[in-house]
Amino acid sequence: MSDWTSGYVTDIGYTFGYYTELNPLRIKLAFLNSGLVPPDCSVGCELGFGQGMSVNIHAAASAANWQWHGTDFNPVQAEFAKELASVSGSGATLHDNSFAEFCNRDDLPDFDFIGLHGIWSWISDENRAIIVDFLRRKLKVGGVFYISYNTQPGWAALIPLRDLFVRHAQIMGAKGQGSVKRVEASLEFADKLLSTNPLYSKVFPQVSERLNKMKEQNRNYLAHEYFNQDWEPMSVDKMGDWLTSAKMSYACSAHFPDHVDALNLSAEQINLLKEIPDQIFREMIRDFCVNQQFRRDYWVKGGRKLFPLEQVEKIREQRVVLVRPKGDISLKVTGALGEANMQEPIYMPVIETLSNYQPKTIGQIEQAVKDKDVQYAQAVQAIMVLIGTGAIQPAQEPAAVKTSRKYTEKLNSYLLDKARFTGDISFLASPVTGGGVAVGRFQQLFMLAINSGKKLPDEWASFAWSVLSAQNQRVIKEGKVLESAEENIAELKDQAQKFADSQLAVIKQLI
Ligand SMILES: C[S@@+](CC[C@H](N)C(=O)[O-])C[C@H]1O[C@@H](n2cnc3c(N)ncnc32)[C@H](O)[C@@H]1O
Repeated sequence: MSDWTSGYVTDIGYTFGYYTELNPLRIKLAFLNSGLVPPDCSVGCELGFGQGMSVNIHAAASAANWQWHGTDFNPVQAEFAKELASVSGSGATLHDNSFAEFCNRDDLPDFDFIGLHGIWSWISDENRAIIVDFLRRKLKVGGVFYISYNTQPGWAALIPLRDLFVRHAQIMGAKGQGSVKRVEASLEFADKLLSTNPLYSKVFPQVSERLNKMKEQNRNYLAHEYFNQDWEPMSVDKMGDWLTSAKMSYACSAHFPDHVDALNLSAEQINLLKEIPDQIFREMIRDFCVNQQFRRDYWVKGGRKLFPLEQVEKIREQRVVLVRPKGDISLKVTGALGEANMQEPIYMPVIETLSNYQPKTIGQIEQAVKDKDVQYAQAVQAIMVLIGTGAIQPAQEPAAVKTSRKYTEKLNSYLLDKARFTGDISFLASPVTGGGVAVGRFQQLFMLAINSGKKLPDEWASFAWSVLSAQNQRVIKEGKVLESAEENIAELKDQAQKFADSQLAVIKQLI
């Protein structure tokens, strides 16, 4: 019997995460801000889609003008992903093929966008070569590749710890125990080792802190992150070496805070980087400056430069929308340099202009904030930072929003219904942003109550409690389980009232 897993953890499913960087609608603003011609995209592919939350949300929320394909070789995950595609009717074509099988299918179109999140660092060189060959053959000229990966030097200190985990699991654990048990045992062993104060943790004191953080993390996530046979944090220059044969060049970061140097680099570092003409070497040196651990890159097959005026004109055409309740937006932002305060006289007028949660073009925002003495470049930088903090997102054209809504409605009603059973899924699809919106389980239950005609927050709370109590589930508040019915109901009423007062208004506009 052949082993289809290639040493990848498959006995426990991956988390039901949604990753906004895989939303191709974001490419335009990132490219324009970097002075690059953004591609016109309509055919996308996600490799290793996990539970398929991202690919399905994108396929439904951009169903008006996108066609999606993808694969994940874990049949349990692929089955769930296919079910989501079927309920939304988005037409996404999803498979349970390995990369080798999928990339050699003869029924795939050429792609404008190929994305992979959380894959590259955990697969073999053989699989990497398959993906690069797929990019070479199937990504159109001008097409964009999104890839996230563990990188250097941020992982340098932790590589020995990850090696210890895997060896411990292989030598001390039995396969029949299952991944969760082996993860627990390896964490426990590493803890025991660090409690003996080895020189390793004296030289790298951050390791103990990291291990403590891991102990609180989801075991499914830890198993997939640390316990696969293959694991390599790769520097950006090595990534560049891999991608040259597919004629790819580095475009820009898909992580918007990276676009704002002032958040991440000192003046000396900015000057040092300016002296480096080679783009990849510059990125590599930048990674040293910020001790980069995880990169989120756009690479492009081509990559033409815009003229300066063309760049400004196109940026002005971009639509964005506020996706967080105005009152919940913090004017603090964290970059590699630490926490910084956003300048209120610049950021507040931008937020205020978007505060009815309707999309506006950047040109419209520029006009609206002009009389508050906010200049074009300041408004654009504020928008990039606010996209980075998740308060703002790029928005689709109105016609695309209208057409996609019928698909997102079907997907969302399925996801809301799932909230009756589990808190695993905390995203819904927005036709406005073409992507996901974070909505917690209780808030999803309140929405279910609203959809069934209940008007008052107290009624939503009672409905949520009826769902939880029927399954003997309880609310957890500040790490403590609330035991009595009274405590649970009081907490749910409080959350329902807060939902009515703030998040609901935003969700109504986005969904
Ligand atoms: C860390 S998970 C990331 C999942 C998803 N991209 C996300 O971020 O939620 C990696 C995924 O890649 C899939 N995978 C790993 N090796 C694969 C292969 N050779 N062929 C197809 N899928 C693979 C796994 O099943 C798993 O779902």
